Formats: sequence, structure tokens, C-alpha cells
Amino acid sequence: MSGVNEIRSGFLNFFAKNGHEIVPSSPLVPRNDPTLMFTNAGMVQFKNVFTGLEKRPYQRATTSQKCVRAGGKHNDLDNVGYTARHHTFFEMLGNFSFGNYFKDRAIELAWTLITKDFALPKDRLLVTVYAEDDEAFDLWKKIAGLPESKIIRIGTSDNFWQMGDTGPCGPCSEIFFDHGDKVPGGPPGSPDEDGDRFIEIWNLVFMQFDQIAPGNRNPLPHPSIDTGMGLERVAAVLQGKHDNYEIDLFVALIRAISELTGADPHGPMAPSLRVIADHLRASSFLIADGVLPSNEGRGYVLRRIMRRAMRHAQLLGAKDPLMHRLVWALVREMGQAYPELVRAEALIEETLKLEETRFRKTLDRGLAILDEKSASLHKGDMFDGETAFTLYDTYGFPLDLTQDALRNRGIGVDLASFTDAMERQKAKARASWAGSGDTAAEKIWFPLREELGATEFLGYDTEIAEGVVTALVKDGASVDSLKAGDSASVVLNQTPFYGESGGQVGDIGLLTGDGGVRFRVTDTQKKAGDLFVHVGQLEQGTLKKGAALQLEVDHARRGAIRANHSATHLLHEALRQVLGDHIAQRGSLVSPERLRFDFAHTKPITADELRRIEDIANDIVLENGEVATRLMGIEDARSSGARALFGEKYGDEVRVVSMGHGSGNTLGWSVELCGGTHVKRTGDIGLVSITGESAVASGVRRIEALTGRAARNAANHSIQTAKLAAAELKTTLEDMPARVAALIEERKKLERDLSDARKKLAMGGGAAGGASGGDIRTVAGVKFLGRAVHGIEMKDLKSLADSGKKQVGEGVVAIVGVTEDGKAGVVVGVTPDLTSRFSAVDLVRVASEALGGKGGGGRPDMAQAGGPDGSKADEAIAAIEKAMGA
Ligand code: ALA
Repeated sequence: MSGVNEIRSGFLNFFAKNGHEIVPSSPLVPRNDPTLMFTNAGMVQFKNVFTGLEKRPYQRATTSQKCVRAGGKHNDLDNVGYTARHHTFFEMLGNFSFGNYFKDRAIELAWTLITKDFALPKDRLLVTVYAEDDEAFDLWKKIAGLPESKIIRIGTSDNFWQMGDTGPCGPCSEIFFDHGDKVPGGPPGSPDEDGDRFIEIWNLVFMQFDQIAPGNRNPLPHPSIDTGMGLERVAAVLQGKHDNYEIDLFVALIRAISELTGADPHGPMAPSLRVIADHLRASSFLIADGVLPSNEGRGYVLRRIMRRAMRHAQLLGAKDPLMHRLVWALVREMGQAYPELVRAEALIEETLKLEETRFRKTLDRGLAILDEKSASLHKGDMFDGETAFTLYDTYGFPLDLTQDALRNRGIGVDLASFTDAMERQKAKARASWAGSGDTAAEKIWFPLREELGATEFLGYDTEIAEGVVTALVKDGASVDSLKAGDSASVVLNQTPFYGESGGQVGDIGLLTGDGGVRFRVTDTQKKAGDLFVHVGQLEQGTLKKGAALQLEVDHARRGAIRANHSATHLLHEALRQVLGDHIAQRGSLVSPERLRFDFAHTKPITADELRRIEDIANDIVLENGEVATRLMGIEDARSSGARALFGEKYGDEVRVVSMGHGSGNTLGWSVELCGGTHVKRTGDIGLVSITGESAVASGVRRIEALTGRAARNAANHSIQTAKLAAAELKTTLEDMPARVAALIEERKKLERDLSDARKKLAMGGGAAGGASGGDIRTVAGVKFLGRAVHGIEMKDLKSLADSGKKQVGEGVVAIVGVTEDGKAGVVVGVTPDLTSRFSAVDLVRVASEALGGKGGGGRPDMAQAGGPDGSKADEAIAAIEKAMGA
């Protein structure tokens, strides 16, 4: 017996041997198809290769593709657990030819694999072909040697395969396995074909057309091949089982569930064990591919799957959250084939645990209400839709969970009254926007948000994706199309463009589409909460509502934004470590050029502190640890010590971004609530360089910083400038500080010498010192030295007056100093024996008046004053002489 892992590798190796490239499964969230909720077939990743839009370096490929059929067009959720072959998650094995081989080779390869390598008995096999496909009919006869009775023509759409309403398609041929006459059921095309006897195991699609629109089909550039074999189904056949849930993989998962819950895999609770096993796979793979539970879109499908499993865990009597304790078993079974499962193991466990812990808070109460309100109902009755809505709205019961809970008793849910209740709630929300006071132009977003739902943001995982235009808004009004040159806003069902929020600026980039459509996005904003609005201009073409577009974010710019955002987190924590626990974020700006972080702190940060903050942040950059994102309940996030923005409103569930190791918090060194985009590893930041520190308001400081290339450029610029300065000083960079200090010292000494020389010159007399006014003379019978001096600092006037006093021995000295800008200061000194006759204070006052000033002050032996008019220096001296009684 071959295990699932051997069958998978056996299939891939068979086709590799036959010239096929083994291509890894694409993610469950399709990057190249905006119309699909989840990847639901192996050909999805090759869609554009079939149509010739995309070239690959190979013409033959083989894959084992992860698929989810829940939500959207293909939805198997409701049947899982109750049938032998329904799954929400399954693996599709396939081989593909892109214009290389066609029907004959495809049939030959398939037949060889199943009858030789897989050794299935020929007489248990039969095939179907599309009614008009004589060629396929003949080939099966020729290549496989099947009798005509075992080649069944089917006229219905069953044998014409289409990916969706549009896309590659063609007639197909299916291979069936006959489980034998002990199982009821008839061959395909017969009235009882839905029985379990004849099971389809492989579908070969002869890709020939591209469906452009309903009723409109173009031939593909080359006929191609797409095949799909459900791994679980073929494993059941090869393992002699009739039920997919009895293959080795499911037996192992169900055993793990049974061990933890004590439930008997073959007892009455078997459906619950199956549901849990199936949903564990779907949830884990979706989480590993970046989907997190939410209330809309893909996240809500995931939540529905998770909660459905959680109710079954509760049915099995599990007292504590169960799902996260099963992840190891799944990783053991499937981790080797899908390494993304191993990488995301911790994230999967945490996400499941969080969801189950939270859901358990309302699950019991909700189930009690469900029991009470359904107690009097019987098989065929309808459960009240209003109550189903209350269960949905207040107790977090997805509608399908309620339906699932009533299913065993044959009770349905009244969907009309459920929808009514939902509508009434929406109307209430609408009434609240009406009063929200936004401008008319802004109000347009609320009804659009209600009509379209939230935009799904893909930008945590990718910067390129496809999206469908769901609304076009021009001049504040919704329009159906835009023409070249129009400035407008584009809304899409999903987008990798980040809408401005949390300090991080919106993305810019390009939206392109068929017919040369090119819309340049110059900003992305979030409106009405979570409607992403691409603002810009249609440069070329005509853009219509409903068009599918390629969306590409400006990568270099986003890369710089990511580095700046992650660096903001590192600086936040470094600030706290250096300055203290009181550091709380007050705001931030994360742009591609730089980052800015405002925080509560009352003092300027010293140069030494800044250096330490920068060093700490750069140490974490060098650690190059992974940047991890988790989804957590708000209370858990807060109690884990994650930093949040003060006063910010957060939802019940938050993204928590952590970087670095340790420092008391188990989640990481820096742990913050954040919806922004971040680097994968801290090393991607490159370098953090703080460029400024300032005050923005009382008690709020701001630091500014650069990262990556910008930080390096700024550092290089500083080094270049310093080198130029060193060259100018004829020294090396290392010796420059000493050289500059020596120069400053030298300059101080020169200034002192100059001042002394000037003083000497001033008192030594003569025109060279800038002095005028003549030598010592006699005024009113006493010696008088009066002198006007230029170019002497005012603070030196007193010492000049002192030395004048020494010169005269006994007498009066008046020194008027004229500054460079033409103002004047005057000092008058009177030797002690004369202070009874002359007061320096009086004399200085008359001098000051002559200089256009007034007053002055000092003591009788020495006084000082000033005046605005230095040109009156001589008059000031004359005024003193006069006052002395000349
Ligand atoms: N694309 C084909 C299918 O999904 C093979 O059945």
C-alpha cells in the first residue's frame, strides 16, 4: 500500500521522467486572478500561460496544487464530514502541456501511470468523453484498448471544463474507477450515476478556448493540456478504501484528534472527527498562505471553517481549545511536501488558539440559545432567522455553523428573516453616517463601502496582484467609466496598495489593463474604515467598472517605507530603554524618505543619549532576526506588553509586530500593535541614523531618522564634508578635532594679544591707535586726560581709564570709546583726592548727553555711560571740560 506522500511523489516523478518540470504549488490566495477567492484547481497558476500572456521556461509542467473549495463559486463546506469525498482543502495532482503535446500524449501518459505505475486493474477502469469528441473516443480505444462500452459519451457541461465564467476551457475526458457491484450506483451518464460505485479519479482537459465573456470564446494560441487528479481520491482507490477519510493521512489526523478527545473514530461522533481533520488542514494551509481570520472576504471564510471545527470540538467534549494542539500532527504528515507549513507552525498554532479561546467565550451561551429556540422544532421545520442573526451578530456564529448545528435534526434556517435582520442593521449603520458630518464628497464612501464590502488588502504578502474595479469615483460622484486624462479614484475588490494609516503614507504605483489602460496611482487612502481608494489619473485608455487590472506598487518606494516603519519600532523601544518607561508614542510619520517619531518626554535628549539610542537600534538591525506578525485578541496583546498608541481605537483583534529577541517579553524585543508593512528581517533596514531631535509641543519631543540607502547617503555626505574640512586644514580626519581645538586656542590668544596691543596703542597716544584728543592738559587747575578711542571693546574702557589715572597721578580722566557701528561708551575716572571737587557720575552724565544718551552710573571716582552717537566723541570730552569749569 502506498501512502499519500509516496503517491504524490510517485505522480510528480512519473511526469518529471517524461519531460515535465516539477513546479511548486502556488499559494491558496491567487495572485493572478482577482475573480477567484481561492485557488481551486491546478491550472490556476498557469492561466496566463495557456492564453499566451505569460511565458515560462518550460512547456510541460507537473504539480501537486493546494486547493480550497469553500466560499466563492465552488463551496463544499456544508458537506464536509457527512460524505466520503468532500473536503474544503484538497490536493490536486496535475500535468500540463502549454502547446506542447495534446490529446494523444495526454491519454497515453495518464493510462501508463494508472495502469503500470499505479497498477490499477484495467477492467475496473472506464472513461467519459465529451459527446462530440470523436477524436478522444478513438484515442481511448486505440491507446488504452478500452472496449466502446467503457468509453461513455457525455453531452452535458460535465465534460466541458471551465475555470470560471471566463478563462481557458475545453472539452474533457474523465477516468472513473469501479468499486465493484457491492457498492450501489451506476456508470456516468446513467440515472443512478450519483451512487458511490463509479468514482471519478482523473480529469483530462483538452484546453482549446479562452472564454472572454459568456457566449464569446477565442481559440487558444496552441491546444494545451490541463489535468487534475484529486490526491485524496486516488489514494483511497490505491489503498483499497472507499472513503477518503480512511486513507493513511486522515487516519493519522483522526487518531490524533481521538487521542485528545477520547472520541471513537468509528463511533457516532465520526462526522465531528472528520470535520475537525478536514478543517484543520484548510485552516492551517490558509494561515500559512497569509490569510488571517476576519469578518469579511477570505478572512471570513477562514473564520467560518475554524469556528465550524471548534463547535465540533465542543461536541466532542473538549474542555479547552483543541485545534492548536493538532497542528503538530498535520505538520508531521504534510510538512515535508509543504515546507510553508513548517515555517508557519507557530503562527498557525497561535492563530487557532486565539480564535478558539475567544470563540469559546460565546460558544456555550450561543448554543444554549440555539437549543432553547429550537427545542420545539421538528424535522422539516425552519429555525427563526432573527435568532440566527442574533447568534451571528452577538455570539459570532457564522450562518453555516447554525445550519450545521441543526442539520442532524433536519431543521433549516429561515434565510429570508435572517437577511431582513441583516438589512435592518445595515440601515441603522447608514443612519449613523448621515449624521457623521462629513462633507458631501466624503459621504459617497459610506454607501460604496456598504455595497462593496471592505477591500481585501493583499499588501502584507505581495506588491503585485490583480483586482477587479468595483467603483470609479470622479468629482465626488460614482461613474461607470473614465477616459484618458481623467483624475479620479479607483476602488478594487482587492489590492496590494497600502492605504495611508497609522502614520505610514499610502502607496503609489500603476494599474494596467487590456487595451492599453494605464492608471497612475499617486496616493492610496482608506475611506469609510476599510475601503481602499486609489487616487490618481488615467493616463491612457478607457477604464470601465468591472475591468480586471494588474496592480503594481512602486517597489523601491515601498521598500524604503518598510525599512522606515520597522526602524520606527526599533527606535521606540531604544528610546524607552535609554530614557525610561514613560516614553509613549504621540504620533509618527513613515514616508519613503525618512521617519519621524513623537513621544512624551520633558527634556531635550543629550548627544550621548542619542548615540546610545541609535546604537541599540542598530544592534537589533545587525541581529537580522525575523520580523514576526501575529493576530491577537486586544486584551492578550496588551497583557503581553505590546506597545499601543495612546488613545487609539483598536478592534477586538489586532496585528502584533515583533522584532528582535528577549528583553523580558516572550514575543520579542520590540512588540507593537501595528497594521503597517514591515521588513522581513531587521537586517533589511540596513542602518538607522538619527538626524534630528527637537521639541514639538510642551512635553513632546520628536526624533527624525533615516534608514537604508538614505542613511548611508547622509553618512557619506557627512564624511565627505569632514574630509574636505580636513583637507582645508591640511590634516587627517583623525587629527582634525585636535587641530580645530588648537586653532581655536590660537585664535583666542591672538584676540587677547590684539586687544592688549590696541589698548597700549590707545593709551600711548598718536593717531595710529585711533585716538584723538591730545595729551594731558590742565583744566580748572587739575590735570585732565580726555581721549576718544576707536576699535576698543567697551569692556576695556574701564581698564583704559584706570591706566589713565595712573598716568596723571592726580586729576580727571575721560575715555570715550566709539564702536564699529558708531555708538559710544564713556568712562570717567577721578583720582581720590579730587572726588570732593568732581564727581565722576556727574561728569559722565554730561558726556552721555553730548552723545545723545542719558544718565549713566557708577561711583564718584569711576562712572560709566553710553550714547547712540559716536560722532560726538570730541563734543563729549569738551562737555566734561566745561562741566569741570574750564
Ligand atoms: N482543471 C481541471 C479540474 O479542475 C483538471 O478538474
